[in-house]
Amino acid sequence: MHLVHTLAELRELLAPFRKPAFVPTMGNLHAGHIALVSQAIARGDVTVASIFVNRLQFLPHEDFDTYPRTLQADCAQLEAAGCDIVFAPSERELYPQPQTFKVHPPAAIGDILEGQFRPGFFIGVSTVVMKLFTCVQPRVAVFGKKDYQQLMVIREMVRQFALPIEIVAAETRRADDGLALSSRNGYLSPAQRQEAVQLSHALRRMAGQVQAGVAVAAAEAEAMEALAQRGWQPDYLAVRRRSDLQAPAGGEPMVALGAAKLGATRLIDNIEF
Ligand code: PAF
Repeated sequence: MHLVHTLAELRELLAPFRKPAFVPTMGNLHAGHIALVSQAIARGDVTVASIFVNRLQFLPHEDFDTYPRTLQADCAQLEAAGCDIVFAPSERELYPQPQTFKVHPPAAIGDILEGQFRPGFFIGVSTVVMKLFTCVQPRVAVFGKKDYQQLMVIREMVRQFALPIEIVAAETRRADDGLALSSRNGYLSPAQRQEAVQLSHALRRMAGQVQAGVAVAAAEAEAMEALAQRGWQPDYLAVRRRSDLQAPAGGEPMVALGAAKLGATRLIDNIEF
């Protein structure tokens, strides 16, 4: 496996290949990321993973400075998984000038849910993903459904800019108790770690209620209240249609999405139904 830090090295390594498959990450990898890499390996003729903690997608009060940077351990996992190239640029390499050209997702998808509670988040994500796409020039890129709205935003960006990249969605990997794997789970105390699975339980209950005919707004309010009672600070628990994350009209495939803080740690999860 090659570890490269510059765009020039990356381009040279990729020159002989026709179908790079790409997994963008911010590092601190877990089994969920490795599952994305396995999907990429099956789809391309060379596999690239990027590791870059992207300042543009963090709000000033968020965890950019403390976000775990574990390059050596990440590379060991990627090598064991069969990844060919790790692209780990410095900020100066990826953003040699301030990145003032940005990709602005449409408000209908970018300013709701995560975008409402983390203003500018999807501008930061779309901008870095567009830039990483131009660096790697993949034919296939794999994104996890754990970040469901991110996946939708990237799909729409690829569609509207006619980027010749197939976006593959990978299922969320969960711990034995059902907690969605996430780098931020590492911030949880043992007691919080035990409690953390309640977010997915609340989503499941909310989905079950809507399936049983309870009005969406009532099911959402009850789920928010149940988590708040347990000491969480929920940002949103919402039932949306899968196609565009707008309010469901009834009968279409749906997804229950939630974000809530447990102590200082903000967790997100979602369940399709
Ligand atoms: O999902 C992530 O880890 C990040 O949002 C991504 C896609 C690597 C962009 O920084």
